[in-house]
Amino acid sequence: MMWKESYRLGVDRIDEQHIELFRMTEELIRAIDSHASAEAYQKALKFLKDYVVYHFADEEQYQASIGYAGREEHQKEHREFTRTVFDYERKLKANGYDLATLKDLAGMLTAWLIYHVADTDQKMVAREKAVYGQKHFGRCVELFSESAAEVMETMAGFDRSSIRLRTVHNHQMQGDVFVEIELVGEVTGKAVFGFSKELALYLVNTMTMMELTEIDELVQSALCELTNISCGNAASELAQRRISCDIRPPVTCDGTSCGTGVNGVCVDTAAGGLEVVVLVDHEPSL
Ligand SMILES: [Fe+2]
Repeated sequence: MMWKESYRLGVDRIDEQHIELFRMTEELIRAIDSHASAEAYQKALKFLKDYVVYHFADEEQYQASIGYAGREEHQKEHREFTRTVFDYERKLKANGYDLATLKDLAGMLTAWLIYHVADTDQKMVAREKAVYGQKHFGRCVELFSESAAEVMETMAGFDRSSIRLRTVHNHQMQGDVFVEIELVGEVTGKAVFGFSKELALYLVNTMTMMELTEIDELVQSALCELTNISCGNAASELAQRRISCDIRPPVTCDGTSCGTGVNGVCVDTAAGGLEVVVLVDHEPSL
């Protein structure tokens, strides 16, 4: 099962609803895997959409009842996610529940739900911890790769001490699946994540409890969401240092998009590697 006991907040009502959301996501993935009928998808999606709206309203009510300080920020995430699910539903209705779009939805949904419940929601019941402590970062790429390591730890259950960060200079970026995010604001440029096939499949199989062997739309979409969350966290960290940086939606690209001779950080895990490259007009002083 995709749900883990470690996701439990200790608020029974909310925990039960989270379990139900994981169950629905799992059901959707299994339906896609067995090539269900359009009618089955339509039903699953309607149920999911209605349940997301119901759950978010209930969770927000709970946040209000405990006077949760991070309420506004959290509700913004809920709103954005709801909009995304509605957009997918519209797109799917229009294209007759096309399999590629369904996989795209399932990948995003899985990655978003796991991170939201395993990290964001936990902040409601815990004192917000400073994720990066007082760590010093010389360059943006160090901050972005650290953020990626933290997100992978949360999502795939890696032991943080088993993840090694290693700087690489002046080479052709490595990876089998590349995701790019445009950065705008004081920090303008792009962040590119290059996942090895091995790591990509490990991450998505761990999240979905499936045994996928190929990089399909579901894998790409989950990696896009993972990159989105990592860069979003890095951007929030920059904001705390009073450096504005907005991120645009993630897109897949190819490894040549950075050109040759780049400097990056390789995030080595027991399940394969990820290389992070951040190309910015001016390095801010961190
Ligand atoms: Fe939430």
